[in-house]
Order: sequence, then C-alpha cells, then structure tokens
Amino acid sequence: MIKLALFAGDGIGVEVATEAVNVLKFLFDLNSIRYEIEEDLVGGASYDEYKKPITEKALKLAKDADAVIFGAVGGYKWESLPIELRPEKALLTLRYDLGLYVNLRPAKVYSELIDASPLKKDIVNGTDMIIIRELTGGIYFGQPRGIFNLGDGQRKGVNTLTYTTKEITRIAKTAFEIAEKRRKKVLSVDKANVLESTELWREVVADTAKNYPDVELSNMYVDNCSMQLIRQPKSFDIILAPNMFGDILSDEASMIAGSIGMLPSASLNGKKGMYEPIHGSAPDIAGQNKANPIAAILSAAMMLRYSFDMGSLAERIENAVTGVIRKGYRTPDIYSDLGIGETKLIGTKEMGAAIIAELKLKG
Ligand code: IPM
Ligand code: MG
Repeated sequence: MIKLALFAGDGIGVEVATEAVNVLKFLFDLNSIRYEIEEDLVGGASYDEYKKPITEKALKLAKDADAVIFGAVGGYKWESLPIELRPEKALLTLRYDLGLYVNLRPAKVYSELIDASPLKKDIVNGTDMIIIRELTGGIYFGQPRGIFNLGDGQRKGVNTLTYTTKEITRIAKTAFEIAEKRRKKVLSVDKANVLESTELWREVVADTAKNYPDVELSNMYVDNCSMQLIRQPKSFDIILAPNMFGDILSDEASMIAGSIGMLPSASLNGKKGMYEPIHGSAPDIAGQNKANPIAAILSAAMMLRYSFDMGSLAERIENAVTGVIRKGYRTPDIYSDLGIGETKLIGTKEMGAAIIAELKLKG
C-alpha cells in the first residue's frame, strides 16, 4: 500500500496539485496499485486556520507517508508576517525535518516549445540538464541568523553560510552517482574565490570525486555559471550547487526551458521524498484555471521513479506530456502562435485531462 501525503498549499499550488493527483490516481487504478492519499493544509492556508504555516499534525502526516506531494505556498496576504510564520516556513520545515538534503531539478527543452524561450533557438535546442541542489544546509539554515539591534538606532541583518564536510560529501556522492548514469560529467558551482564555506565545498567535492574515476569533475564560480547557462546551456549536464546558488540557477534554467511552469523537482532522503513544481503559488493567476500543471505532473512522475521504483510508469507520464505538447496543447505560459502547426490555448484542468487522455490512448 502506497501512503501519500498531499499538501496542495496556496494559490495555483492547489490547482496544479489536483491535476497531478488526478494523473496518479488514474495510473494507480489502471495498474491495480493500492494507495491512500491523506491531505492537510500548509502555508498561508494553514496560517489562516491554525495561525502557523505548518502544524505538528501535518508534519507527522509527512513523516508517516512514503512520499509527499506538494503544490506551492505563499501569497500577498501573508507577505508581512514575521519570517517564522510565513508560508515559506512550511516548506523549509518539511525539507529540514524530513532530512531532504537532495534536490533534483531537471531542466529539459522540448523542441516543440522552443518558441517559448526568450533565447535563440539554436542556443537552447537540445538542452538537458539536472541541477542538484543541496537542500538542508548552507545559508538557508546556518546559525547565527536574525535581525539584531545594535543599540545606536542601527540594526543588523545576519545569515550565515555554513557547510560541513558531511553535508558536502553526501550531496556530492549523489551527484556522482547520477552522473554515472548520464553523461559522466559533474560541474560543481561555488564562490570559492571569496567564501571559505564554498572553498571547503570545492575541496570536499574534489575528494569525493576520487571514488568516481570515470566521472569528470569541473568547477565554476556561480557568477560565471549564471552567465554560461545563457551563453551555452547545452554544455551543461549535472550542476551540483549549494542551497542558495541552486535556488537561483534553477529559476534561471527554467527560462531556457521556456517556462517555470514546466520544471518539476524531487527532494530526497533515500527513498523518502517530497515532490513539487519549482514554481511558486503565483497569486496573480490563482483560481483562474491558467496555471500550467505540467511541472506538478512531472513531479509526480519523479515520485514514481525515485520513491517507488516505478520508472516505467514515470516514463509513461513523461511520454504523455511530450504527446500533448506535440499535439499543440498549451497553457498560457507556453503559448505562442508562432510555432509550427497549430497550437491550442487551454487551461489547467484541460491540460490535466489532455494528459490523462493521452495516457489512455497509449494504454
Ligand atoms: C524554491 C523556492 C523556495 C526556496 C522558497 C519558496 C522558500 O524558491 O523551492 O526554489 O527558496 O527554496
Ligand atoms: Mg526558488
């Protein structure tokens, strides 16, 4: 019996998570896979109900589940709350308390969507990379942190970028193991010329690399990397990055792929995982049936692959997504009428339904 926790969250999180769950239910039923999905509030929705972004009950639900499906959190309404009560805190607590230190963010260009990218076609066509982001360390969690009074009417904001050898070694291992199954290349990103914590990062990654002699390791400073990503995205395969650099580079990579609405993610600790689109709650389009559910649906595919060893079912979802894109179905974020052939502008629900129809077609 597969036990899933569902945290749809806020804004478009609710709409896209619904479509991802519909796709999963369809496949589970079709293949007589027994499952149980239990849902709870997180983020702003939880704050409105319980005055906190995540409750102990919701955390326990996540801990007891085999995997967590997450939509998105946040919205204008909660932006001025203290940082501890903000919707984002739910996400950070889940990542930290479940020990989800590996964050996989694949960014792949679909040739049919090439017009959706603001970059030139010949630059982006064929791009296929995975950003492997360290997720439970670095500046997001380092101590000390806070806003402190200096006594002279001044205040000081503090965050600390820390990494231990253990934290670096385990994420580096993951990157090399994944690289062995791909193009046997790892590019590690740091700012070792300025920041000691990432100088250590570079050193420990190099040490770890010695155990993977067939994988080629290279290093790049994060500023240069952000430039090279736009200049020659095809040259990247695996980017291994500390927490905050991975956050920033993955948003950048999404524009190479055309839309942030296309990029899924898996946050892992062994088989235990949380699966969410990399995009946020997009309050500006929430509730309008405009959001692209593909990132959430591809995240569900990642869940089947990484938490349940159901790689062939995952591929069926991925093929169905490719299928509907080929047929010209587009949510507004990936719509352009410049494309080859006909494109049809549709909403969130219709995109979910089209993907299920495509799965039915392929049997
Ligand atoms: C992401 C998001 C989160 C992050 C926010 C919502 C806390 O930007 O998953 O990329 O910064 O990690
Ligand atoms: Mg981000």
